[in-house]
Amino acid sequence: MDTKLMQSYLSTKFLGQKVSAFDIVDSTNTQAKLHCEEKGVTNGHVYITNRQTQGRGTDGNSWASDGDNLYLSIVFEYDDKIDTCFPLYPAVALTKLLNEHYKIEAHVKWPNDVLVGQQKIAGILCEGTFNHYMIMGMGVNINQSKFSDALTNIATSIKMITGAEINIEKFTAQLLNTYEKLFTNSTDICKEWLTLTKMIGKIINVEQDGVNKQVTVTGLSQEGFLQIQHPNGDIEDWMARRGLDISTQY
Ligand code: BTN
Repeated sequence: MDTKLMQSYLSTKFLGQKVSAFDIVDSTNTQAKLHCEEKGVTNGHVYITNRQTQGRGTDGNSWASDGDNLYLSIVFEYDDKIDTCFPLYPAVALTKLLNEHYKIEAHVKWPNDVLVGQQKIAGILCEGTFNHYMIMGMGVNINQSKFSDALTNIATSIKMITGAEINIEKFTAQLLNTYEKLFTNSTDICKEWLTLTKMIGKIINVEQDGVNKQVTVTGLSQEGFLQIQHPNGDIEDWMARRGLDISTQY
């Protein structure tokens, strides 16, 4: 990652003004967390690499982190914008960027997966630190042209969709520019999210604490919770949490 080149495309005030880049690293989220807890870091500091050895995903899963992709974590100092809707911003930013600049029909799957068709092109993991930072970690499959057998049907990359090799530095800056604009412009992020999802009105397959069920998605609450209806008519607002796994087949 050529940090200087990436920063030459930036139009942000805080995202990516400070960058720690690694040729290879265990996990950018782990590094960001360590740095925050050891000494504190500046708001918007970005940790970035093209290859992780111990990438972490949601629900305690690992995140395959081969080369040629983007793995980044951004540190946010806690303030009142860090609420239950916080995880929606990066997913909306990435989806808009893919739709508008890369002509890829990406859509958001609650709360913050980014899919193309039924395949995942990116994942997001937000984690708090004990000393009042929030870390937003995102992995975007960019120039990978083949996935392991286990991931072939569930993952895709920009290169596999467009056939083009993407400049990761430029892409990263575009992502940070879009993200900062959304985050600082008092955007109604739930409204934006709703324009970018295909979930509303769909019956989804869910595994909830080991139990499989089907529910209908009816909306998104102002808190960013998924509004669903059970087959018996009961309605609920769901918060994203461990043990709640929604299939991409809808
Ligand atoms: C998911 O399971 O969907 C979330 C995946 C999040 C992966 C990113 S890659 C950059 C950052 N570092 C990590 O170890 N995880 C996140």
